[in-house]
Amino acid sequence: MTHLSLLKPTGHLTLGNHLGALRPMREAATGDSYYGIADLHALTVAHDPAALRALVQEMATLLLAVGLEPATLFVQSHVPAHSELAYLLECTATTGELNRMIQFKEKGRGVPTTRASLFTYPVLMAADILLYRAERVPVGDDQRQHVELTRDLALRFNQAYGPVFTVPEIATPAAGARVMDLQDPTTKMGKSHQSGAGIIYLLDPPDIIRRKVARAVTDSATGSAAVRRDRATKPGVTNLIDILEACGGSADGLSSYGALKTAVTEAVVEELAPIQKRYADLACDPASVTAVYAAGAERCREVTAPVLAAARAAIGLG
Ligand code: TYM
Repeated sequence: MTHLSLLKPTGHLTLGNHLGALRPMREAATGDSYYGIADLHALTVAHDPAALRALVQEMATLLLAVGLEPATLFVQSHVPAHSELAYLLECTATTGELNRMIQFKEKGRGVPTTRASLFTYPVLMAADILLYRAERVPVGDDQRQHVELTRDLALRFNQAYGPVFTVPEIATPAAGARVMDLQDPTTKMGKSHQSGAGIIYLLDPPDIIRRKVARAVTDSATGSAAVRRDRATKPGVTNLIDILEACGGSADGLSSYGALKTAVTEAVVEELAPIQKRYADLACDPASVTAVYAAGAERCREVTAPVLAAARAAIGLG
């Protein structure tokens, strides 16, 4: 079974990325998995070239620290076939369906102008997936609409030009598919959120994690301080219980918010400790990290060449 997933280097990786994507990616990782850094996608919003380069290096090191290496690891822009197939798929997608993409609408809201690439973003993502004939895409819940679009484009292309692509399935984890911001638990915990106070980053040391969890919003309008899930009236408490369970703990028997926060802190620190330790070791040897990604890109260029060639031929090029 071929698994594929990418993450965009627009900020430091978060606990949301970890529970929603990285951990399931690690569980699924085999020699037939392709996991990448979506640096081209990072260019769809305002960016700083030097900061992007640093974030790609950090992410490259972190993916290894998480333990994804049974998979082929690569950087998207090192495999030019992604851009080329994206263009062929732009000729398959319609402006109407891209206009309906929630992420495009959200990122475009209230800003005077957006990059044209933000509009075509989901088509590049479809190219990422279809180029590898991926059968499963392990992602968080927020990517559902993009994977649906990918399926539509694959079916449409196959129907119009012949059976070139595999129609992928989404795979979201049972726990952790949507981790919310600790300060604003009705919004997703996201790399590019304004303030970092509600975000746990994978490289946050234990005392920072403790402080962020201690300050997490728990108050509810109901005034009841029971430790139980209720997404409508206790989104903060519900999120903390979700995080605890996703990290292998349980809220059963916890009688106060203080006890819940202590349990969450311990579970998260324990989940991240081995990753942080491996990161510290790997960061001392950046050349070995670079070598892994150079070999990965070479393998990706090989496995994707026949798929791109088939797509080109089917659509009438060459
Ligand atoms: P990105 O970089 O925003 O997020 C990377 C992965 O982390 C998941 N995720 C979350 N899961 C649970 N709770 C959260 N708060 C949370 N925040 C992020 C995302 O669902 C994702 O799985 N468009 C993609 C990158 C991409 C891609 C692809 C993914 C590009 N090409 C091909 C899969 C296949 C994105 O922006 O993810």
